[in-house]
Amino acid sequence: MAQSRLALALSALVLAAAVVNAEVQLHTADDDAWLLPNFRRNMIAEAGGAAYKHETVHCDPAAVGSVAGCYDQGIPAVGNVDFKFGSPQVAYPTDGTPWGVHLTGPYPDGRTYLVSWFVGGPTIGATVTRTDLSGMKTYAAVRKAGAKGWVKHSGSVINYLRAYSDPSLVNGTYLSPQIHHVVLPRLDPNTFYYYQLADMSGKLVGEYRFKTLPGPGSKTVYPLRVGLIADIGQTVNSSDTRDHLMANKPQVVIMVGDNTYADNYGALDTEVRNSKGTNQQRWDTYQQLWQPLYSTVPILNCAANHELETSGIPAVINYTTTSFSFPTNFPFQSYSARFPVPGTTSNFGDITQNLYYSTVIGGKVKLITMNNYVPFHKGTPQYEWAMKEFASVDRKMTPWLFVQFHAPPYHTYYTHYKEMDCFLSVWEDVFYEYGVDLVLNGHVHAYERTHPMYKYKPDTCGPIYITIGDGGNVEGPYRNFVDEINPNTNKTYCEALNYGGLGPVAMAASKPSGWGPGYQTQAHAPGCPTVTFQPATSVDNGLLVLSNMTAAGQPAMGFCQNSQPTWSAYRDPSFGHAILDLMSDTSAHFRWFKNLEGNAVAMDDVVLERLDSCASRMAGMMGRRMMSA
Ligand SMILES: *[C@@H]1O[C@H](CO)[C@@H](O)[C@H](O)[C@H]1NC(C)=O
Ligand SMILES: *[C@@H]1O[C@H](CO)[C@@H](O)[C@H](O)[C@H]1NC(C)=O
Ligand SMILES: *[C@@H]1O[C@H](CO)[C@@H](O)[C@H](O)[C@H]1NC(C)=O
Ligand SMILES: *[C@@H]1O[C@H](CO)[C@@H](O)[C@H](O)[C@H]1NC(C)=O
Ligand SMILES: *[C@@H]1O[C@H](CO)[C@@H](O)[C@H](O)[C@H]1NC(C)=O
Ligand SMILES: [Fe+2]
Repeated sequence: MAQSRLALALSALVLAAAVVNAEVQLHTADDDAWLLPNFRRNMIAEAGGAAYKHETVHCDPAAVGSVAGCYDQGIPAVGNVDFKFGSPQVAYPTDGTPWGVHLTGPYPDGRTYLVSWFVGGPTIGATVTRTDLSGMKTYAAVRKAGAKGWVKHSGSVINYLRAYSDPSLVNGTYLSPQIHHVVLPRLDPNTFYYYQLADMSGKLVGEYRFKTLPGPGSKTVYPLRVGLIADIGQTVNSSDTRDHLMANKPQVVIMVGDNTYADNYGALDTEVRNSKGTNQQRWDTYQQLWQPLYSTVPILNCAANHELETSGIPAVINYTTTSFSFPTNFPFQSYSARFPVPGTTSNFGDITQNLYYSTVIGGKVKLITMNNYVPFHKGTPQYEWAMKEFASVDRKMTPWLFVQFHAPPYHTYYTHYKEMDCFLSVWEDVFYEYGVDLVLNGHVHAYERTHPMYKYKPDTCGPIYITIGDGGNVEGPYRNFVDEINPNTNKTYCEALNYGGLGPVAMAASKPSGWGPGYQTQAHAPGCPTVTFQPATSVDNGLLVLSNMTAAGQPAMGFCQNSQPTWSAYRDPSFGHAILDLMSDTSAHFRWFKNLEGNAVAMDDVVLERLDSCASRMAGMMGRRMMSA
């Protein structure tokens, strides 16, 4: 017993040395500009009922029908199918009336919003070609509640063509409906506005309503209620989530990517699930299903893997380029045409600027939206952009700092485990150094919240990672935890991880860039430090499963353990949404609401406090940096 403990401690030492070496690669001496002392963060601590509880809700056998069901990766959730094309929940008018209305914002000035909508229907068939709408204008009008006059604003009309190079899909060629975008500039903060939209004939019709957020200089900002969703899709469970979220009356919604799941359907049929092209009509149905929320609350969306539609077109994604075959075979085409990022004020036909952005919420939260499907390494445009964004944050102005991107670097589910190790190796130190409060993710179809953490250990100077991964999409929840023992094999799911016949370590050793999913070509680009591991030293709540998935000549590393790791605070493989109430510059109340048989039940409930600054942190960083110099 004593011997094996010693062995564990020794292998942990070797591992620690390896980690330091990895950092030498990351931050060399010429790289100091990013380390700005005045941006060191306050620590974020948890208070209240859920603080430092270790609370796992496992799969509920009653919900999936059997105990075995909880261990079946492929089991579909009950009722978890997309609304049929043409059903009332997703049907849209083709008579020229606006539909699929959605608000984007706030823009970085805190006061500007974008309203977008569709007019007419798509045109589909072998002979369809792009039509030129470049001369067309559109209009929206706003009226403050209580005021008489309407203020009219003009905007752009665009469309896009999805033509497949695969000749068998020629009949699925899709020309989108007219897409109208109008910027509503510099609205008054904290104010109800009515708005009207131009129909096909240019007439302003309808009466929609939304409330602007407080802005810079608003006297009253708090409480500020932010809704959080991801991976939402268009099933009956999606509309449950939509309704639960609306009932909670968020002032703004952060949507962490994977909107429609249109790529589950082939180009030729809205009901047949295959991988032959992507069904653009399923984007249209999605827009209609989510209109009740999206037309009444501004959304901050995020481009993710289901927005990256490559099937049937020769899209090129590589480690360095961000052009992604723009314009004809641009795989983010549909998303970008429909959801221009906040900050874009003109020329919505140029959709190349839509892949990452930053904005300010309520004058108090800087939200940096990154994209882990677009090259993110040093020297890439995204890297340079994001570093400038982090460096420009003024915590006196925006005390809260959130980052969103789609795939979670820290989670404990079997599916997509360790997919983000390369991203983490580039960005974790930056998040830590600039004092990111919350990292918001989706992708993993389940819920998980970590404690504040850094490098696989609870650390009150590190961010909290929140995976809000399933709003009800057709692919269903992920059931299995990586540390869970599969009763069929008596081994952890971690031990079953397999990438093309190889375990993660062997894969990382033999083909570093092959690590990670095919749709994320840059996941383990050349030069990316190798995979990180759950270190043996953090296992104090279960046995370390000494993995056999170790590269030749290396000590066994603590890749797996057989219990929930100490950094994971709460996890539950169910559909739901979250509500974050910012109460002051230093305090927030976070809750995750689980969908339970048509109801929303608050399951994770924690108060987050931002306390004194992390004095020890600088020393820690300096120590490591001195070693690397
Ligand atoms: C496209 O549709 C036409 C008319 O229905 C049909 O004759 C043709 O075979 C289809 N083409 C392909 C490639 O399926
Ligand atoms: C999906 O919605 C149906 C109908 O409300 C419900 O019975 C089912 O439990 C939901 N599925 C999940 C996984 O929540
Ligand atoms: C990636 O794109 C860059 C820039 O266009 C190009 O120079 C490079 O050859 C491409 N690499 C691959 C592997 O296609
Ligand atoms: C797993 O372990 C249990 C308890 O030791 C044993 O009864 C069962 O047969 C084992 N199953 C397998 C597949 O080895
Ligand atoms: C590791 O793999 C070797 C060879 O496949 C096997 O003999 C050994 O028992 C394994 N060790 C563990 C701990 O599973
Ligand atoms: Fe995803």
